[in-house]
Amino acid sequence: MTVESVRPKDTTASAEPPVAGGAVPLLGHGWRLVRDPLAFLSQLRDHGDVVRLKLGPKTVYAVTTPALTGAVALSPDYIIAGPLWESLESLLGKEGVATANGKLHRRQRRTIQPAFRLDAIPAYGPIMAEESHALVERWRAAGGVLDITYESFRVAVRVAARCLMRGSYMDARADRICADLTTLFAGMYQRMVVPLGPLYKVPLPANREFNRALADLHVLVDEIVADRRAGGQKPDDLLTALLEAKDDNGDPIGEQEIHDQVIAILTPGAETVGSTVMSLLLVLTEHPELGDKIRDEVESVVGDRPVAFEDVRKLTYTANVVTETLRLYPAVWILTRRAVADTELGGYRIPKGADLIYSPYAIQRDRRSYERNEDFDPDRWLPERSKDVPKYAMSPFSVGNRKCPSDHFSMAELTLVTAAVAHAYRFEHAAHSDARPRIGITLRPRRLMLRALAR
Ligand code: HEM
Repeated sequence: MTVESVRPKDTTASAEPPVAGGAVPLLGHGWRLVRDPLAFLSQLRDHGDVVRLKLGPKTVYAVTTPALTGAVALSPDYIIAGPLWESLESLLGKEGVATANGKLHRRQRRTIQPAFRLDAIPAYGPIMAEESHALVERWRAAGGVLDITYESFRVAVRVAARCLMRGSYMDARADRICADLTTLFAGMYQRMVVPLGPLYKVPLPANREFNRALADLHVLVDEIVADRRAGGQKPDDLLTALLEAKDDNGDPIGEQEIHDQVIAILTPGAETVGSTVMSLLLVLTEHPELGDKIRDEVESVVGDRPVAFEDVRKLTYTANVVTETLRLYPAVWILTRRAVADTELGGYRIPKGADLIYSPYAIQRDRRSYERNEDFDPDRWLPERSKDVPKYAMSPFSVGNRKCPSDHFSMAELTLVTAAVAHAYRFEHAAHSDARPRIGITLRPRRLMLRALAR
């Protein structure tokens, strides 16, 4: 599949995609998407490479094969828009990189990209290692039962904030950012699946708490920007890049754009890494033999000293556990796009204005792409085996112009955290731990309460 193959050819000649089975009057497939979205999306490929879904009165096009999802992600005819993004805009702002399109998006990517380039990552190494070891020590001191949701999001926020917006002030503020984002993400998902606008304006305690967290997050970002300006320092980090960025006329970018950019980068960074750390800890709890092997690998690579960023390259087994976790539990489990032209996809006509969805979760668990597709098998990422994985069947960070800028950053961070905690602890579920998937804006275990048992 090439990019060209999705561009309009003779669109009159191509067919409408089939309608997926299981629709009910009025709600269409909506009830299945609400009730059990993962199972629903995972069987759609049996109905066709592209299938139409009815969500109430609306038609949405679901793309089900790796090749076609790659084609969608790579084509300029499909942009970021649609219900998921509209619901996120109230949090992420309209002028940040995650929601912008076209020229503005290209300029913003150019500004932030240097902070995430492969050769920029080693500079973050000491902070990533420090935070990983601090987690191990924190859990030793805490003893007893750990609330893993809080712990995972906390480390994700701290690493993103400390690496990308350096400065000691961050240490104090990271906890506040973390608390705000936890409240906001729960509320955002509710607003997305139950879009009852006026209901969320009623001054109920949950709405008041949501509004308070949103206001506090905006205040925090303004404080961080103001502090940096007042200090007059220009460390080589993402915040400096944003403050120095110029628009297409060579003028400094506006305050609103700086603000939205900080939120648009911190927010997905915290939510995705936090969710993945939770999934990793679930994997270590349910497959203790993986943790034992990671411990052995760390000891043979690192010896007695604490694991450091420089070791990451050699921790191949640990990295394969992270990759396999991203395959089976992709934090970004659903993606949406909108067609800006009449196009053709896999021989089907996609009209201008159509909303498309596809699911990295469904693609990455498909039996057509993976043998023993539901098994957790880190060795499938050994070089001699991974070459058999079909193109675009493993894209947890997506591909194309919206690809996550933070893939190298995240892999380094997740590998270090996993190595440090698996070296120190085995895990077991405590009372009230609930490992079932929580399907929100990201995918993660619902509520993990774990006991960390020192090795
Ligand atoms: C975009 C996944 C960590 C910042 C994306 C996209 C995916 C993704 C799939 C593309 C969305 C789309 O195509 O519509 C992940 C995963 C992560 C992770 C699985 C970790 C496990 C991070 C971190 C940061 C970050 C740590 C920042 C600190 C962003 C931004 C975008 C993005 C700014 C928007 C890019 C654009 O639209 O140009 N991420 N991400 N992500 N991610 Fe990540």
